[in-house]
Amino acid sequence: MTGVERTQVAIIGAGPAGLLLAHLLAADGIDAVVLEARSRAYVEQRVRAGVCEHPTVELLRSLGLADRLDREGLPHEGLSLRFDRADHRIDLHALTGKTITVYGQQELVKDLIAARLATGAGIEFEAADVALHDLATDSPRVTWTDVDGGRHELRCDAVAGCDGFHGVSRPSIPSDAITLHNHDYPFAWLGVLAKTPPSSHELIYARHARGFALHSMRSPEVTRLYLQVPPDETLDGWSDARIWDELATRLEVDGPFTLREGPVLEKGISPMRGFVAEPMRYGRLFLAGDAAHIVPPTGAKGMNLAMADVYRLAPALVALLRQGRAELADGYSERCLRRVWRAEHFSYFMTTMLHRAPDVDPFLDQLQLSQLRYVTGSTAAATGLAENYVGLPLD
Ligand code: APR
Ligand code: PHB
Repeated sequence: MTGVERTQVAIIGAGPAGLLLAHLLAADGIDAVVLEARSRAYVEQRVRAGVCEHPTVELLRSLGLADRLDREGLPHEGLSLRFDRADHRIDLHALTGKTITVYGQQELVKDLIAARLATGAGIEFEAADVALHDLATDSPRVTWTDVDGGRHELRCDAVAGCDGFHGVSRPSIPSDAITLHNHDYPFAWLGVLAKTPPSSHELIYARHARGFALHSMRSPEVTRLYLQVPPDETLDGWSDARIWDELATRLEVDGPFTLREGPVLEKGISPMRGFVAEPMRYGRLFLAGDAAHIVPPTGAKGMNLAMADVYRLAPALVALLRQGRAELADGYSERCLRRVWRAEHFSYFMTTMLHRAPDVDPFLDQLQLSQLRYVTGSTAAATGLAENYVGLPLD
């Protein structure tokens, strides 16, 4: 037997987008049910990105959701572009007056889950067979199976598709109602989480003849590192020893720097792609976050774009459901996509400036170096990089 329930907004996915949307709607008195395919433990452990832009941090603070982030997050005033065996610092704070905060996405997810549960609202974890129906009407439905095999039907006024790139929401849109823009970059990132203090107190984006490397961190005891690898690479052949060797080579610099090694806690490979679905809406289904767009991680924009989407979606849903006013909902996709395309370009700019392309020739090599020297040597160019990196204003 199928149990029939009712809510105002069905939120599919408990990542940063879905969870923050649930909080924004609750602050406006709008009811939502959150359906998440995975278990709570799984989403809280999943290692993801780690940079919160200035506007993201401000938004979380304004909602009272930044207590732990403010205590444990690592504020960064600058970053290093490492090339030609030297560090070239971009002073984010001097150039923009703003900082970024390094705080693991799964830590934020933990905080958002705990804060929602503390209000007595729920999250339906391990929701299987989620399917969306009647999206072109004013009364869409979502069906799903709970962890005990019980079937549910959720009737609602709107569906928020916050279920990431591989979710069910975007594929529920008829193909003639959506345009998909895809760009596969010819690289992947091999990421490692290591139990060792960071080797530098700032992020280092390193351009090297053997390929890009990134030194990041999660805490004073945990370092996060990445290596550019070919797009079809697997972990076979990447022993911990080889990873540390390659990192040490690519991060080599003239001057005092020693890469601190330590036990590898986690490693994985992620492809790099740019992807945008346009529009981010079909009838009463609104897409947000990775469900609608993907950026390569070089600009550290993925999680922040997801937050920026739902910052716009919440007032659009409030106006639609409370006052029957559709202007914000009708403008939702266009307003988001302006920011999304800016982030796609910034991520493309950072990626192509720092990675070694398979078809690189001496001419392209010199163009890349010239670009790096320009963004690190010209205050005007450095300011452009910095204002994108710390995050453009939400409004
Ligand atoms: N039904 C319910 N939930 C689903 C389904 C489904 N069919 N498919 C996926 N999900 C869940 C996933 O398990 C995940 O928890 O939706 C959630 C989507 O969360 P994210 O992938 O974190 O996406 P988003 O909230 O948009 O945040 C974007 O995540 O991938 C990173 O780099 C990206 O930092 C960016 C951020
Ligand atoms: C990370 O710490 O995971 C990280 C930092 C900066 C990036 C991408 C990822 O550009």
